[in-house]
Amino acid sequence: MKKYAFLFLIVIFALPLVAQNKFVGTNTCACHNLPKQGKQVDTWKKSKHAEAFNVLKSDKAAEYAKAKGIAKASEAKECLECHTTGYGEPAEKSFKMEMGVQCEACHGAASGYKAIHNKPENKEKAIAAGLILDGGEKMCKTCHTPKMHEMKEFDFKKMMEEIKHPMPKG
Ligand code: HEC
Ligand code: HEC
Ligand code: HEC
Repeated sequence: MKKYAFLFLIVIFALPLVAQNKFVGTNTCACHNLPKQGKQVDTWKKSKHAEAFNVLKSDKAAEYAKAKGIAKASEAKECLECHTTGYGEPAEKSFKMEMGVQCEACHGAASGYKAIHNKPENKEKAIAAGLILDGGEKMCKTCHTPKMHEMKEFDFKKMMEEIKHPMPKG
């Protein structure tokens, strides 16, 4: 009887650990830089999202921070929650906050789906494990909203055009 109670406790405590995906970081997504895949990593590297953490060290950032009474933008939760990926969420060692707004900011923490999402027949399984294929405008606007500082109006079509990274057809 005691033995079963013990097992029961293990299961109860382990469940949330299994259920919560961890962020693994863009370095783990290197397959997405193959030409036949569409070189998404290169496209991302050239985008402002890759610079989102670094920009917190600029003069403009210091100005925004000062206006909010924040001492150091690159260490403040109030800035990092939009200028990095999954701020405050569990992450694996490979994850580097300094790489800014990474793949998983839009596609979901990948620890659960990284090993299976490369096969088309696993699409549904990968989605069930946390893969987000197209979060749409609503997802963009969790960050593209003038909560902490002014910013340009968010025109979804135009903004998507700037960061698009499709797979080659066929
Ligand atoms: C709600 C999400 C969010 C928060 C919180 C946030 N930012 Fe931003 N930040 C953005 C987005 C989105 C952009 C891109 C703006 C655009 O497209 O015009 C941006 C752009 C910037 C830029 C570069 C563009 C510019 O306006 O010069 C700086 C610098 C910056 N943010 C600093 C900060 C600092 C410092 C903080 C904390 C005080 C902060 N941000 C908090 C979302 C956020
Ligand atoms: C700012 C959000 C954002 C970031 C960052 C981002 N993506 Fe995406 N990605 C999207 C959206 C939105 C789509 C769906 C676009 C559509 O269907 O029009 C997409 C589509 C894709 C697709 C499918 C393309 C197709 O044609 O089927 C792949 C593969 C992909 N992203 C990989 C990546 C990788 C790898 C990274 C990091 C190097 C990354 N994405 C970074 C938002 C993002
Ligand atoms: C996790 C927060 C976050 C999400 C989600 C996000 N962005 Fe961003 N985005 C930023 C930040 C922060 C910047 C500014 C980075 C900088 O200036 O270095 C930015 C900058 C951009 C820029 C460049 C703007 C400029 O001033 O040139 C484009 C385009 C953009 N985002 C499009 C999108 C689209 C489209 C989506 C949704 C598919 C999206 N973003 C989702 C945080 C986010």
